[in-house]
Amino acid sequence: MKALILVGGLGTRLRPLTINTPKAMMPVLNKPFIAHVVDHLIGHGVDEVIFTRGHLAGQMELYFGEIYRGCKVTFINEERPLGTAGGIKNCERYLDSTFFALNGDVFSTIDLSAMLAQHRSKHAVATIALTPVENPSAFGLVETEKDNRIRRFVEKPKSEEIATDLINAGCYILEPEVFNYIESGKNTSIERETFQFLLRDHRPFYAFVDRKSYWIDMGNRDKYFQFNMDMLSGRCHCSATPPAGANIGDGTTLDSSVTITGNVMLGHSCHVAPGVRIEGPVVVGDRCNISKNALIRNSVIWENVELDDNDEVNESIIADNCHIGSGSRLSGSTLADGVYTTPDYFLTGSQVWPGTALSN
Ligand code: GTP
Repeated sequence: MKALILVGGLGTRLRPLTINTPKAMMPVLNKPFIAHVVDHLIGHGVDEVIFTRGHLAGQMELYFGEIYRGCKVTFINEERPLGTAGGIKNCERYLDSTFFALNGDVFSTIDLSAMLAQHRSKHAVATIALTPVENPSAFGLVETEKDNRIRRFVEKPKSEEIATDLINAGCYILEPEVFNYIESGKNTSIERETFQFLLRDHRPFYAFVDRKSYWIDMGNRDKYFQFNMDMLSGRCHCSATPPAGANIGDGTTLDSSVTITGNVMLGHSCHVAPGVRIEGPVVVGDRCNISKNALIRNSVIWENVELDDNDEVNESIIADNCHIGSGSRLSGSTLADGVYTTPDYFLTGSQVWPGTALSN
């Protein structure tokens, strides 16, 4: 079974983190986000993944190669953004039987095998996974008949229109027939155009409702942060969920005076100096150097980051290759890759662009 994953977007809402790192490659528990998605697909029998080649796709090609965990990996060029439907149509020549199609910024533990079984039993041309949300008004709702046939889509519903809490989970099973409903070479949306055409033509188009599984759309900074925390705490339970408490990577050295509380993941080959306190939930990437008496609380730190003596990092995201001068305090901030600060630099609620040197 093949799966097509849409990764052609620019990830503007996750800037500045996505200036030099594609959204799909942003680390979640020290592994690219999209690798968690592919692992879930492989667990449900997918043996070929097709990525639409987008913003900084070379990084994905380097990570996955041509075969990843026994699964064939193919990248398809998209000369200019074709939208969600156009991106799928662009891969038509690779997809001649039933396939999964996924938004590349959604992670879920949806039972894809059960979804496929339903798709087959209904002889559907398309099946959409639906997931419940607490506040449906911000989303496009999907209304269904009793037998799960899709009745209609309601975009940005008014309060009196809210008859369901189920939204499109960005995970589909499609038959090649769906290609007939997408114009080639044009920027089109599967949600707003293709699916409406299937309803217009009364094609067998069903919902797969999954109220139990974990689901997250990692489209913005808060959701990215939340996904890391949910993985660490086990709220998102999947093959990557670590044991509770401290998880220390190979070759990482910790002084005996280091204190770690809560759920923490430290990557490999890190050095953690005397007096450091790490108060989870915290993720620290590979090859980081945490100097004396630093404090890290409720934060996500990527690879090769240097924290100098007495630094405090609170509720922040620090991307690769940053160096924070001694005695600095970061709170509620997002630092893209390669940021440097002089000592005693205080930063609150800020977003810092790649390569910036911050000095007092
Ligand atoms: P924002 O710029 O922050 O909205 O992010 P985005 O560019 O990723 O857009 P959005 O979140 O709406 O996209 C949902 C999914 O569709 C993501 O996985 C995108 O990579 C993908 N996507 C969006 N536009 C395109 C496109 O033009 N082509 C392809 N192939 N994929 C797309």
